[in-house]
Amino acid sequence: MDEENDHNVLEIEGGVPLKGAVYISGAKNETTKLMVASTILDAPVTLQNVPHIGDVAITSELLHSLGVQIQYSEKNKTLRLDVHGLSGHQAIYESKRANRLSVLLAGPLLYHFGEAVVQKPGGCKIGERPLDQHLFYLHKLGITIDEQDTVIKLKGKLRGAVIDFPYKSVGATEGALLAAVRADGQTVIRNPANEPEITEQIKFLQRAGVIISYAADGSIIIQGTSAKLRLEHPVRMIGDRVEAISYAAAAVATGGNVELLGIQHHQIVTAISALRQCGAEVIFTGDSIVVQSGEKILPYKLETDPHPAFATDFQQVFVVLMSGAEGVSYMHETVFDNRFKYIEQLNKLGGNFVVSTKCLPFNSCRFANLHEHTTKINGPTHFYGGQAEITDLRAAFALTIAGLLAKTPTQLTNAHHLLRGYDHPIDKLTALGAKIKLIEKD
Ligand code: EPU
Repeated sequence: MDEENDHNVLEIEGGVPLKGAVYISGAKNETTKLMVASTILDAPVTLQNVPHIGDVAITSELLHSLGVQIQYSEKNKTLRLDVHGLSGHQAIYESKRANRLSVLLAGPLLYHFGEAVVQKPGGCKIGERPLDQHLFYLHKLGITIDEQDTVIKLKGKLRGAVIDFPYKSVGATEGALLAAVRADGQTVIRNPANEPEITEQIKFLQRAGVIISYAADGSIIIQGTSAKLRLEHPVRMIGDRVEAISYAAAAVATGGNVELLGIQHHQIVTAISALRQCGAEVIFTGDSIVVQSGEKILPYKLETDPHPAFATDFQQVFVVLMSGAEGVSYMHETVFDNRFKYIEQLNKLGGNFVVSTKCLPFNSCRFANLHEHTTKINGPTHFYGGQAEITDLRAAFALTIAGLLAKTPTQLTNAHHLLRGYDHPIDKLTALGAKIKLIEKD
């Protein structure tokens, strides 16, 4: 479920190549997950390099409603969570602002109270996003599940088990990790997702005292514990890899260059090679990664897959980047069944993109002939601007790049999507030379 539609508008005047350095903020999908993970510890936790984004605010509201004390300093980019007041077992959003993290609280709340009520996120703009794998791990860990219309009621004592996930799910892996830490006995998570933010969650748990290790096949083995778990030192968030790739793609698409500060190379290996295949030059300075446009943008074929392959959160900005190439490019989305809603909006701005249920020119995937999940990009596109609606967070940045490329001004409605996951995007884009304004309307 997303926030309600709003009337805030991004106004962009295109034609300026982005140039300069940008500091990449802390990772959204690490920060919010470690906020939730803090609820299984026995002492306050301080997170550093916390991004100023809507999703952190929504997660704070949810945890606060459960009795967690939260102190946030935007100036110091720190967030302190004190779980001692945790008193409620119902993770229900109080306002219309919601994200998908309620269900991740299942394990922690079951540990503290022996029962939990979590809110179902419902379908969303990027696909059905069912919860079956979340319910699968909870069932395996011995929990009784009562699925209702909008909530799931859970009861029982967590018991260690072997959880053999049929598909690599980020959220289900994270939820299973938290539940397993407080389960009775050992848990083995087979076929876990491997996103960098999950590695950070594992490091967080290990630092707090959890016995956790990897098996040769990549399975994660956790020894459940009721011992006191605490972190002696603050935990620093890694850079947001999606933000980094978004600015890199914007710089190359507009014929400019960007120096990315605060991002770790190992998180974006596949995406860096994709940038090079699209004609960009990438230089590693030691402290930063410089991405600059080459002689021309080259057409390419890309497919999304779980990490360390090319991420589904990168596809939107690459679709716009590849549209600058002469020739045909393709993007095959194999993670979410409906992540091309924004294509219609790009076409309103002058794009020439065609979505299809076929997988060609790629190998067949589970969405073949069922969902529109492949986009053919007929380049070069000459965006002419106009009005379009932002459909979701990652589409927000892709549509913004289209605006930066357009000949006449662009207005994008539903601007809150951008602010949910990008830290100070207007300031950062402006510092790179973009002409962009956020017009807040009542
Ligand atoms: N899936 C199921 N059943 C489940 C769970 C997932 O079928 O119970 C399916 C999903 O429908 C999807 C696939 O498995 O087709 C992968 O979903 P996953 O669970 O990995 O995604 P998620 O945890 O819901 C997180 C990020 C997304 C990111 C994906 C994939 C957060 C809050 N969200 O979602 O980030 O795209 O992993 O990497 O961590 C974003 O930041 O804009 C964003 C959407």
